[in-house]
Amino acid sequence: MVSTLMITKGRNPLGAVWSQHMELPSGNREIDIAVVLPTFNESENVAEVIARLSAALTGLDWEMIFVDDDSPDGTARIVSGFAQEDRRIRLIQRIGRRGLSSACIEGILATPATCVAVMDADLQHDERILPRMLQNLRGEGLDIVVATRNSDGGSMSGFSEGRQFLSRLGRRISRFVFRCELTDPMSGFFVVRRSFFLEVVRELHGGGFKILLDILATSRRPVRLGEVGYHFRNRIYGESKLDVSVAVEYLFLVLSKLTGGAIPTRFVVFALVGTIGLIVNLSCLSVLFIKFHLGFSASQAWATLAAMTGNFFLNNQITYRDRRLHGIYMLLGLLSFWLACSFGAWANVSVAGNLLRSGVPWWVAGFAGTVLSAVWNYSISNLFTWQMPQPQRASDDAVAENALPSAKPTAPPGW
Ligand code: GDD
Ligand code: MN
Repeated sequence: MVSTLMITKGRNPLGAVWSQHMELPSGNREIDIAVVLPTFNESENVAEVIARLSAALTGLDWEMIFVDDDSPDGTARIVSGFAQEDRRIRLIQRIGRRGLSSACIEGILATPATCVAVMDADLQHDERILPRMLQNLRGEGLDIVVATRNSDGGSMSGFSEGRQFLSRLGRRISRFVFRCELTDPMSGFFVVRRSFFLEVVRELHGGGFKILLDILATSRRPVRLGEVGYHFRNRIYGESKLDVSVAVEYLFLVLSKLTGGAIPTRFVVFALVGTIGLIVNLSCLSVLFIKFHLGFSASQAWATLAAMTGNFFLNNQITYRDRRLHGIYMLLGLLSFWLACSFGAWANVSVAGNLLRSGVPWWVAGFAGTVLSAVWNYSISNLFTWQMPQPQRASDDAVAENALPSAKPTAPPGW
């Protein structure tokens, strides 16, 4: 593959003495498969994964694209060393960004290959099945071939009961919500046809871990799917980044796909947290009023305060985890949240009262008041409470998922 750049002298319309003639490389070969490898702190796995992939892909024209989120352990430096030796190995280094799904999306977009694999870089995915996956994709004219742990001889034995249970639960939810018939929709190992990916990329949610599910749930047409089984290996080096926040990300993905972007996902989560607040409110009320015989108003006042406080912390932890408030900002946030919600409660009661007096059925009046206060609380806390310009902390990086800029202006950043 020879690429030549010839610069010949000439006269351009402005009189400058130059012109450029580029000769395109002839006989350019097509890449059979590009493998996108998202990495965060995988320095110990890089050399081995490259060696294993090169062996598995012998006879094919391949490229490997590592997408590293500026891992503190120097993963990017190590990949860079390999990339200098072999131009089929490439590195995308993202600074100040985090997110497995968004890393995969950017990796896939960075290659001209028609078939792109996404695979973990920690040796847990069995690279030896890649040629078969590619063959099925091409031979059967499929859009995606998924490596599955749950059929076709695949397995994840050797993993804790908890991890296996979570995997099963996620699978059930995705079956129910997305009507996805895959045996392993939570898989992070698949080969996708680039043209199909380009059909959906603009509407991807882009947050969290579940890129495959995101792609499948976004497609407007039935996806031609295939599966190849493999044994999910245990990690030897480094650690999994899978934690509670991954479950929260999954919740956001499910909600965003369920509402089709019509309602901001953050609002739906805010409303869910609000429902928990209602339960807290009623429980506290019953304890104080019935058990401790406190006056009704006093009981209700304390119960409301408890519910608002609980809601603030839940929202800070889940709904606004990418803008989480800390220290003094958290205190200021709590005060502003109390204030906003108190006004919301007052508006709720007065609007519902007025509606009732004007002849509207009681449950319509109550519902209208509740919706009004929910929208009010959400808007105000979204605009003020979680917009405080607090200095960025290093530990925030972990939650500051930064995905593609969203096509929907109402969607929170990173979703
Ligand atoms: N660039 C980037 N940014 N890479 C990341 C990030 C991130 O924020 N978080 C994780 N990764 C990389 C890891 O370095 C690893 O190569 C891969 O993504 C998977 O991360 P793990 O932390 O090892 O996840 P896991 O093994 O618990 O779960 C994986 O495998 C499951 C089974 O296929 C994920 O791919 C799951 O989505 C999948 O269900
Ligand atoms: Mn892993």
